[in-house]
Formats: sequence, C-alpha cells, structure tokens
Amino acid sequence: MDEHNMEVIVCPDAARAVTLVAALLETRLRTQPALVLGLATGRTMERVYVELVASGVSFGDVTTFNLDEYIGLRANHPNSYRRYMEDHLFSRVDIDPANTHVPAGDAVDLAAAAADYERRITLAGGIDMQLLGIGEAGHIGFNEPLSSLASRTRDKCLTPTTRKQNAAMFGGDPMSVPSRALTMGVGTILEARELILLATGEAKASIVARAIEGPISSMVSASALQLHANCKVIVDEAAGSELGGREYYDFVFANEPAWSAYRDFG
Ligand code: F6R
Repeated sequence: MDEHNMEVIVCPDAARAVTLVAALLETRLRTQPALVLGLATGRTMERVYVELVASGVSFGDVTTFNLDEYIGLRANHPNSYRRYMEDHLFSRVDIDPANTHVPAGDAVDLAAAAADYERRITLAGGIDMQLLGIGEAGHIGFNEPLSSLASRTRDKCLTPTTRKQNAAMFGGDPMSVPSRALTMGVGTILEARELILLATGEAKASIVARAIEGPISSMVSASALQLHANCKVIVDEAAGSELGGREYYDFVFANEPAWSAYRDFG
C-alpha cells in the first residue's frame, strides 16, 4: 500500500472486491477506533455494509460524514440517503447517532446547511478515510460533470444519466428521482486523508478507465482522484475490463509487501 500514489486492484469478482473493501475498513477501524469515516450510499456499497456489520467491529468512537443527500426528500423518506444509512449501517452497529452526519437535503437554507456541513467536518478534524462509488456520469458524491475540482459542499443539479442510473429505487421512472442533491464538493473529498473507491460491474468499465487513466477533467469528477496522494481503486474484472495498465496494477498488487495480507482478493 503506497501512500504517494493511486493504486488499482482488480479482483476476480464483485464479491471479492466488496470483501477487500470491507476488510480494509475493518482493519482501519480496529487500529483507529476514533476514525472519522466518510461514507457513500448506492447499490455497490450495500454489501460492504453487510460485511462490515457482520465483522462485529465497533463504531462506538467513530464519527461519520456521508457524501450526499437528495434535495427535497424528508430524512425519513424511504429513498433518502439518511434512511439508507440507518437501514444498512447505523441501526446495526453501536454508533452514537449524534456522531453520524448526512447533508441536510431538507434544509430551507441549503447554502447555510452546506457551510455548516463543511464546518462540522473541520471541527471533527477532517475525514480520515473516505469511501467512494462512481456514477456512470463519472461523479463521486453527486459531483456531476463540470463540478469544479475545487468545489465544496453545495447543491448540485443531477444529470439525466444519474437520474436514469438511480431510477430503479424510485419505481423505475427517472423523472421521480429528485433533480438536485446536496453533495460534498470535489475539493472537500480531496481533503480526506485516504480515499477508497469501489466499482463493480460492466456498466462502470468505461467510466472507470476514463477516470483512472484519462486526462484530469471536470467532465469526469472522479478523474480528480489522480490528484490525491493516497487513493485505492478497487474494482472487479468487469469494471476493470477497459483499463489499459492492468498488467502493471496486478504486478504491484502481487509484489508490494504491504498488500501481502490481502493477496487472496486479487
Ligand atoms: C452515493 C454516491 C454516488 C454513488 C454512485 C454509484 O452516496 O455518492 O456517487 O456512489 O452513484 O452508485 P451505485 O453504487 O448505485 O452504482
């Protein structure tokens, strides 16, 4: 594990990619119980939370900050990200609810809620480890194309691609997916001390290759991860299938001493 580079690990299947991410998180939580952990929602993360809960690791001293929340949904709406987190993680571990943070997408004053979110992250000492997924539009959080690479938490208009990607959770109709979200900015995300991006499935193959190996561009927010000094990208064969540097990534994973405990996943 190299603290000055991006590292790409291609796992044979989605199950092993998920287990590797859960194992990295569990190890980190055991060695640093007061971790400030950045969380993501979405289908890819569901199984990570299942494994994290099953590991029995304590969240008693953990503080969490989620990446984003839909605007206009009440916190207890079945499709809100607050509700997702309660269902998949918070209600299943020993975390203090006061230490869980999700942007207030139902706030009347969204700019104030965004500034408050940034302030809370700073007060917590910054995010130690941030979990990320990637959208088919290249977003991290809900940083859609043309998000400034210096952006902070703010409200953002979602792309048709993203609304289509998330339509299944809203009865299949993209128009039922809220059109805006309150999201950490790319700049906010880049300030986390460590980033872990997980992507699985063929639908992510092209955007993963563009983000990891393409030019850094605000058209693909995830390409900003190339600017981060400690970023792990963990994908399955399907999501990694368009990566040109595969041979080298596999060689690094097989040879870096720090990965020795995790080789079974590669
Ligand atoms: C969710 C988030 C998004 C998702 C991305 C992938 O909090 O920040 O960036 O990680 O849209 O979603 P899935 O996993 O559903 O494909």
